[in-house]
Amino acid sequence: MDIRTVACIGAGLIGQNWTTLFSSKGLEVTLHDVTQDILHNSITNIASSLIFMEENNLLRAGEADAALKRIRPTTDFAEAVAHADYVQESVPDNYEIKKHVFQELDAQAPHHTILASSASGLLMTEIQKVTTRPERCVLAHPVLPAHLIPLVEIVGGEHTSPSTVKATRDFMKRIGKAPVALNREVPGYIVNRLQAALLREAIDLVHKGIASASDVDTAFCMGIGLRDPLIGPFLRIHLAGSSVERFIENFSRSYQYRWETMETWTSIPPSAAKSIIKGVNEMEVVRTKTLEEIKNWRDELLVKILKLLGEE
Ligand SMILES: NC(=O)c1ccc[n+]([C@@H]2O[C@H](COP(=O)([O-])OP(=O)(O)OC[C@H]3O[C@@H](n4cnc5c(N)ncnc54)[C@H](O)[C@@H]3O)[C@@H](O)[C@H]2O)c1
Repeated sequence: MDIRTVACIGAGLIGQNWTTLFSSKGLEVTLHDVTQDILHNSITNIASSLIFMEENNLLRAGEADAALKRIRPTTDFAEAVAHADYVQESVPDNYEIKKHVFQELDAQAPHHTILASSASGLLMTEIQKVTTRPERCVLAHPVLPAHLIPLVEIVGGEHTSPSTVKATRDFMKRIGKAPVALNREVPGYIVNRLQAALLREAIDLVHKGIASASDVDTAFCMGIGLRDPLIGPFLRIHLAGSSVERFIENFSRSYQYRWETMETWTSIPPSAAKSIIKGVNEMEVVRTKTLEEIKNWRDELLVKILKLLGEE
């Protein structure tokens, strides 16, 4: 399927990232949100992301400006989707709002259009129920900042056709993403389930006073995080045990001790919430830098890591 024109619905954080990416790859993009003020603010942020990409040699001289010219912001939903081959919906992660938008998409978008959602944990089976073309609806879940981080998780609902999953995957590959397609949907997909497991333990370590929020972050970033861009959990155990079979033989017992002492709560206990709010606000980086400064620092280093990985 030849995707040339894209509509981004929702111009918040993720909608801005997608618009930055799509426009930087030469696609015509319409960007829709509910007010002109939101769109104005979003375009300012997109422009600075495109300039950032040009300054860091992810785009050639003049390409940021050309990309910006390919974006058409509009509060008119029908106009936004009228000529779209592909729609990327990025409205809040809430079934009621997503279903309302998908109903509108069903009514207004051309019949061939792929209707993709950025949802972080919701199921497409539920969202696609409100459309008359569930076979064209799919989840394409990015990772923040989505114009820089390559991964996108693609997962269909019960009634999504394999050809929609394939076309979405091919499209994502074409624009330089690293897509993975799940065989079956599950809340949180792969990335957010892994993050949820890690986050619960990080919260619990701080809540129980075992370590400060700052030291938990340092342990992650200077330990497993440094290795994580190169190897995932499975390659790690293969190396750690000198083979996956030996790892299971030698380390199963010590993992059992860890898992037996870990919390299994499914919503953050109020006292734990209090501990991490205090812990995070006490972190030096949080006390001394604005969110914008932290984001810029993160993105500059991220680009260097991505370039190194690209040279492999
Ligand atoms: N923030 C992240 O780290 C992240 C990462 C991956 C995926 N996501 C997913 O992306 C989606 C958007 O998240 P976000 O962080 O960008 O949220 P956000 O709150 O920053 O942006 C949502 C935008 O949607 C707009 N909106 C609300 N109702 C709308 C409607 N009916 N039509 C058009 N626009 C509407 C809002 O005005 C807002 O600008 C969510 O599903 C979220 O789970 C978020």
